[in-house]
Amino acid sequence: MQPIAEYLAENALNLKNELIEFLKIPSISCQEEFVPECRRAAEWLERCLTKIGFSVTLYPVSSRHPMVYAESPKIEGAPTLLIYGHYDVQPVDPLDLWTETSPFEPTEKNGCLYGRGTSDDKGPLYSHIAAAAYWMKQPNRPNLNVKFLIEGDEEGGDSTAALFVEENADLLACDYVVLSDSTQFAPGFPSITCGLRGIAAYELTLTGPVQDLHSGMFGGAVTNPCNVLCEILGNMFDENHRIRIPGFYDEVRRLPQEDLEAMRLLPFDDAGFFSSVGVEDGLGEADMTVHERITIRPTFDINGITGGYQGEGGKTIIPAWASAKFSFRLVPNQDAEWLTAALSRWIQEQLPPGITMKLDVEAQSGGLLLDLKRPCMKAAARSMEFGFGCAPVFTREGGSIPIVAKFSRRLTPNVLMLAYSQKTDNAHGPNEHFSLTNFIHGIKTNVKLWQELSIEEEN
Ligand code: BES
Ligand code: MN
Ligand code: MN
Repeated sequence: MQPIAEYLAENALNLKNELIEFLKIPSISCQEEFVPECRRAAEWLERCLTKIGFSVTLYPVSSRHPMVYAESPKIEGAPTLLIYGHYDVQPVDPLDLWTETSPFEPTEKNGCLYGRGTSDDKGPLYSHIAAAAYWMKQPNRPNLNVKFLIEGDEEGGDSTAALFVEENADLLACDYVVLSDSTQFAPGFPSITCGLRGIAAYELTLTGPVQDLHSGMFGGAVTNPCNVLCEILGNMFDENHRIRIPGFYDEVRRLPQEDLEAMRLLPFDDAGFFSSVGVEDGLGEADMTVHERITIRPTFDINGITGGYQGEGGKTIIPAWASAKFSFRLVPNQDAEWLTAALSRWIQEQLPPGITMKLDVEAQSGGLLLDLKRPCMKAAARSMEFGFGCAPVFTREGGSIPIVAKFSRRLTPNVLMLAYSQKTDNAHGPNEHFSLTNFIHGIKTNVKLWQELSIEEEN
């Protein structure tokens, strides 16, 4: 067997170049014109996984982009690992802010690869493909069956992937799931993510008069939908920055004291956190630390507001309609479907005469909390220590990956989220990048994980 360090020394350049090929495909899932590019990314993965010895199927799903499924040659009686990732990426605009590279022409600078998808999620995903490529070339690979499930619709919050898991639970049957699609606590802190927040995202449209009206002739009597939208959304927080929807916190549990203390032992740098995004300070829930606010507490954020006149100069009107997209991050136990009903009622009760509402659900998924005591967590920690040279920390993260809660409920509670990206990688923003050191350490971790899980007995 060739030692992994030697393999990586020989192959680092090829691996990087293959990742660059993958990154060049503009697989933006939410924009119609990139539908063929998403297919190209799926087909690229198909060729790449076929080449290393997996049998690959592209499944059409009810959303627009195929699901990539692959499996290694079957070893009877061996445990099964399912590796998850997503090949779709976020839109790139505004383009003029991409000063380090053009989004789909990946460029290496300061030890990082710059380009859309480098950090979320093509780079981390490819670290698992690279580990598979290594093992498939060895004469004695671990006693482990490996499956890949790679979706093309993660970034939009579409729920078809979760449905695919539900409907194909036999195909996807496994003893462990691993994914790398979350972030490290901080550089130098290899991390295992043990919790994610869920999400409930909506679009609210308020409609008033049949058309835009002169605000001099009608203002003061005809209800203005933009005014009402601002008023209702402005009511969302009370003076402690808690959400006012009745019952919203009923199922929110305070963490056990020992977990809170463990969290407070991590050196979270409030000032550095704010300055990294160009602000001096921020506003959040009373009596919570910044670290708690962004990981273990629910939140509400307006993601965009539209309505009325936004063009050049002034136009004194009462707009016919106003709309907003907003989302809540949820914590374990909170139920997104309950929230939809409660939210709808809460808005309805505040509607003045002359306004009607429409509330569309855009994404819904529950939060997740994994059990640190499972033996596979220790196997993952040993793998990370091997890959990164120091023991990992366990953290809860504020982002959401809707399919993961489904994995843990439908397939196995042994879900391992090994974080290789950094919070400062600019995921979803301009100049997204991924550390090539983390890429290599990630591959080493993944390689070790195959071995660890092949001998792990009780799960
Ligand atoms: N990889 C992220 C989720 C993430 C980020 C988890 C950081 C943990 C730490 C994923 O690609 C993502 O962006 N998810 C969306 C989901 C939504 C559209 C349903 C999110 O969190 O906003
Ligand atoms: Mn992601
Ligand atoms: Mn993302």
